[in-house]
Amino acid sequence: MLARATRAVARNAHQTRAFMALAEDHDQIRDVARGFAEERLMPIAGETDRLHKFPREAVNELAELGFMGMMVSEEDNGGGMDAVSYAVALEEISRGCASAGVIMSANNSLYCAPVSANATSQQQKDEFLKPYASGEKIGCFALSEPGNGSDAGAASTTAKDAGDHFVLNGTKAWITNALEADAAVVFATTDKSLKHKGISAFVVDRNTPGFSVGAPEDKLGIRGSSTANLIFEDCKIPKSALLGKEGDGFKIAMQTLDGGRIGIAAQACGIAQASLDIAATYAAERQAFGKPIKALYAIQEKLSKMACQLESARLLTWRAAAYKDAGRNYTKEAAMAKLVASEAATFNAHQAIQVLGGMGYVSDMPAERYYRDARITEIYEGTSEIQHVVVALNLLKSYAAEATTLPAGSKDEGHAAQEMAA
Ligand code: CAA
Repeated sequence: MLARATRAVARNAHQTRAFMALAEDHDQIRDVARGFAEERLMPIAGETDRLHKFPREAVNELAELGFMGMMVSEEDNGGGMDAVSYAVALEEISRGCASAGVIMSANNSLYCAPVSANATSQQQKDEFLKPYASGEKIGCFALSEPGNGSDAGAASTTAKDAGDHFVLNGTKAWITNALEADAAVVFATTDKSLKHKGISAFVVDRNTPGFSVGAPEDKLGIRGSSTANLIFEDCKIPKSALLGKEGDGFKIAMQTLDGGRIGIAAQACGIAQASLDIAATYAAERQAFGKPIKALYAIQEKLSKMACQLESARLLTWRAAAYKDAGRNYTKEAAMAKLVASEAATFNAHQAIQVLGGMGYVSDMPAERYYRDARITEIYEGTSEIQHVVVALNLLKSYAAEATTLPAGSKDEGHAAQEMAA
């Protein structure tokens, strides 16, 4: 009895720590990521954006830090770390450079995670996981198509079973890391009549004949990361390219996106923090009406609202990661975190420009970049509208499971009126 109570207290203590402050090892990871971001990323982030330049050297250094495959086991060349570590590190990296953040996030959550969880052989792990988890190579995730984004189950790329191999045909759109990726996790349908149950996941080498990459998109923000189409024209892939079982693809995509949304939430927290940092620092220096503008209530209110949004978002992000680490279902929690964090990023970046005034609108200061970088976090890995659907459906599912009824004595007016009319 006592032992059970002690275990419960210990469990609660762990949860409290996860929600109130970081454990020592997470703190250490944050210090390393923060130091790297301030020393190596902040100085190059402006140029990376201006020149639309993939920050190759910084990505190599992220690999040396073990940040390109953080949650993959050490046995498979990963960092063997948990999701909270990943969220903490990714926030700091994104605070330094949001482009580096999304490059890291796509490799970790969208490529390494589904390969690690669904690899079907040691050979597949050796070839398609180990060099990617170590950061020697980079991967990407190909789900969306020119004709479908939010409706992920409507994939029209086909994988035709041709005996000892599959043949891929179709185009995948909006693929992060497309230009640099050495391999892609590709979703294609083996049987359209089965709808989402006909979708399978494959891991495809970039050099496979029939696989080509389109022109890079000219984007509003995160311009140091590449985004392009992947095109498959009679692209023959071996049967061993299958991840999981045939028909598992849609579930693999959804599970991958659950994890990916923690990553984008962390990226958004990083942008929101950077926006608050520049606004608060500028407000302390900028003079107006004979005093620093930080003494004005209008500015204080903005800083307060920014801090509230950021810290709510961060707690939701850590909570989603802690649920993942505890092996609990975290679909709703990840969607909530991504929704709130991406809105915090766009709100804070907007307010930072307002605090900086004209200086916020020009590229001498990073606020305008934060504003452009923030915007995509409300779109990729599921728009805010999709996150609301995921949150609401999961919420309603738990109400239904608990068979919640209206409180005793409450009157359902509509129902009573119908009864009287009858
Ligand atoms: N985990 C596991 N399984 C899941 C799941 C989850 N989170 N969500 C749904 N499923 C399962 C369901 O249980 C169901 O299984 P059964 O058929 O066995 O019953 C099946 O999937 C279908 O579920 P739904 O009927 O709920 O599916 P839906 O077609 O209505 O779609 C959706 C649900 C939430 C809208 C989904 O399509 C979705 O998330 N869309 C957004 C896609 C997205 O985020 N795209 C971004 C692409 S990646 C990117 O941004 C590019 C990049 O490089 C950064």
